[in-house]
Amino acid sequence: MEQTDQVPSDRDELLNEILARIELEKWFGADLYPIRPDNGETQHTPAEPAAADSDEMAVVESPNEKQAQLDELFEAMKTCHQCQFGDTRTKLVFGEGNPDARLMFVGEAPGADEDRQGRPFVGRAGQLLTRMIEAMGLQREDVYIGNILKCRPPNNRTPTPAEMTPCLPYILKQIEIIEPEIICGLGAVALKGLLRDPSVSIGRIRGAFIDWHGVRLMPTYHPAYLLRSPQQKKVVWEDLQAILRELGLEPPPRRGS
Ligand code: URA
Repeated sequence: MEQTDQVPSDRDELLNEILARIELEKWFGADLYPIRPDNGETQHTPAEPAAADSDEMAVVESPNEKQAQLDELFEAMKTCHQCQFGDTRTKLVFGEGNPDARLMFVGEAPGADEDRQGRPFVGRAGQLLTRMIEAMGLQREDVYIGNILKCRPPNNRTPTPAEMTPCLPYILKQIEIIEPEIICGLGAVALKGLLRDPSVSIGRIRGAFIDWHGVRLMPTYHPAYLLRSPQQKKVVWEDLQAILRELGLEPPPRRGS
């Protein structure tokens, strides 16, 4: 009966492999699996305290204090009209997530869906970002998600460096409050803003950590670019795995391995 003893463990292994593949398939091959519906459960407004921290992604030290500082910042800037985007926005998109996150994602600017809802990364690119985070074995609530610009540029046009300047102190202050160990900069505009260098080429710098004021900054492609160029998902997945390793977390098994 040696063989029957073997069957359950082989099955378990197979089942685990299938589950891991499905998890990765959710974002490697997005068309095969439905996108998790946005039922509003993940919504965090700056005014709400974060959910209790329970896992290794969270540092339990002082989430309420950090949340209070984020609330204060939001109060100070919620009516901002320092640039013309303040005049055309529907809602200012402050950012959301765990105020004590070890990992923070920084994108470019709100799009139409974000402008309507007042939440970052909730449109198509945002749904892909959510799947990327989940493929890392995390949830949106584990990380913090923000943007360089808090208001939508009309027609989603790329902001100029001069247009980014008035908004930059806000994301810098958010980073200062949250104190993430790692920032994942999404796309050229986010990197140009964070590095204060309009000549940045994302294709040249992606995939290697940069020491950014004592924080590890991983530049990678923007999810909106991945929607247009899905073949680049593979290298972004490598960048996300490098982030997990840096955080001391186990990357999920790779598809096909
Ligand atoms: N793209 C971004 O850079 N940020 C968002 O919030 C949404 C789309």
